[in-house]
Amino acid sequence: MKVDVLLGLQWGDEGKGKVVDVLTPRYDVVARFQGGPNAGHTLEFEGQKYVLRSIPSGIFQGDKINIIGNGVVLDPALFKAEAEALEASGHPLKERLHISKKAHLILPTHRILDAAYEAAKGDAKVGTTGKGIGPTYTDKVSRNGLRVGDILHDFEAKYAAAKARHEKILKSLNYEYDVTDLEKTWLEGIEYLRQFHLVDSEHEVNNLLKEGKSVLCEGAQGTMLDVDFGSYPFVTSSNTVCAGACTGLGIAPNKIGEVYGIMKAYCTRVGAGPFPTELFDETGKTIRDLGHEYGAVTGRERRCGWVDLVALRYSIMVNGVTQLILMKSDVLDGFDTIKACVAYKVNGEEIDYFPYDISEGVEPVYVEMPGWKTDMTHMTSEDEFPEEFNAYISFLEEQLGAPIKIVSVGPDREQTIERYTE
Ligand code: GDP
Ligand code: IMO
Ligand code: MG
Repeated sequence: MKVDVLLGLQWGDEGKGKVVDVLTPRYDVVARFQGGPNAGHTLEFEGQKYVLRSIPSGIFQGDKINIIGNGVVLDPALFKAEAEALEASGHPLKERLHISKKAHLILPTHRILDAAYEAAKGDAKVGTTGKGIGPTYTDKVSRNGLRVGDILHDFEAKYAAAKARHEKILKSLNYEYDVTDLEKTWLEGIEYLRQFHLVDSEHEVNNLLKEGKSVLCEGAQGTMLDVDFGSYPFVTSSNTVCAGACTGLGIAPNKIGEVYGIMKAYCTRVGAGPFPTELFDETGKTIRDLGHEYGAVTGRERRCGWVDLVALRYSIMVNGVTQLILMKSDVLDGFDTIKACVAYKVNGEEIDYFPYDISEGVEPVYVEMPGWKTDMTHMTSEDEFPEEFNAYISFLEEQLGAPIKIVSVGPDREQTIERYTE
């Protein structure tokens, strides 16, 4: 059996949670492979809305196994709050959620360090989610981290040593903080974590594959936030690309099957950093209002702009995307015309590839197309698509070199249309 990977092609918030939930009935296992509670994955069904941060989005559809892989960073306090809320809403998880012992723990002082580093950067700050993601991955790579498996042996001493190290750094930064409350809920989270199946997820995933089970990997963030290929340094601290599923779960590259790349019909970004197609006018505001483009967790306003096909071609290349999923086209339902960036102009020269540096002097070159001016939110089949919409998706497929297999026309699970035409 192969492992399929679903990931965001832009700057995150493409609608990964919704589509993982929709695809879950076709799989036996859903697994997260990177990121942590910086993610906010929204799902809507039966009039209810849920936002998941660390728990995979396969938790609502039947008795699937959900795995938090070794590549994830986990905050026990936030995890406890998320898991308890789900259990209280009638979605028991204890038997279905397995957590890798090799996943790294976000400590309370990691969150404080995140804030301290951001403050030290001043105007150059990344605009992180403040969840301690960067400092936790830094400790992982510099071999100072604590892992979920550490809670099973001699944990107090290990925690005390890690905390003391962080306190020294915070002192050197002259950063004022009080960790008391954070630490209290965090330690409760550690105790809560002990009730779950703490596993060697690389063994588990590979054994399940041997038994013929199918696995869907759920990416967090998006390719433009990847630590290697994104708009560095305005990125997150993990590999959000397809290869991250291999290192974040212990899956060999030759086991990867389909790679689903998710994109919005426009583009958004939260936090700082370059965004060539960003709109500062009324159109940008209209997209934000109609698309409810506010952070799923932080409520931060998302920056909005036209779809960037140059960046998308790059994302499709580095991920090996085999099929595209087009989200939120309904937000553009009322537009007279729609633009798409097909090239960049850099120093007066037109280029169609994604350059090393997009921070300055990149001017988008747009193609403008007629809008479809039709409410598509109640459509259930591609046979109902208006002619202009068909022309629009054919244009995207041609520009991007990959087929659009699913079109999402609203936030609800039901508002999802599969395409069968080639
Ligand atoms: P994720 O982080 O990739 O899972 O995406 P988020 O949940 O952060 O953001 C996507 C937002 O768009 C959520 O509020 C979803 O409920 C909503 N959404 C998902 N698909 C669609 C769609 O096709 N149309 C509209 N209008 N909203 C959608
Ligand atoms: P999902 O999974 C959108 C952004 C932050 C910031 C940068 C670094 O919901 O798509 P971090 O806290 O990771 O160190 O912040 O990355 N960011 C996201 N933007 N969606 C996300 O997740 C994000 N996770 C991090 O806003 O610019
Ligand atoms: Mg999100």
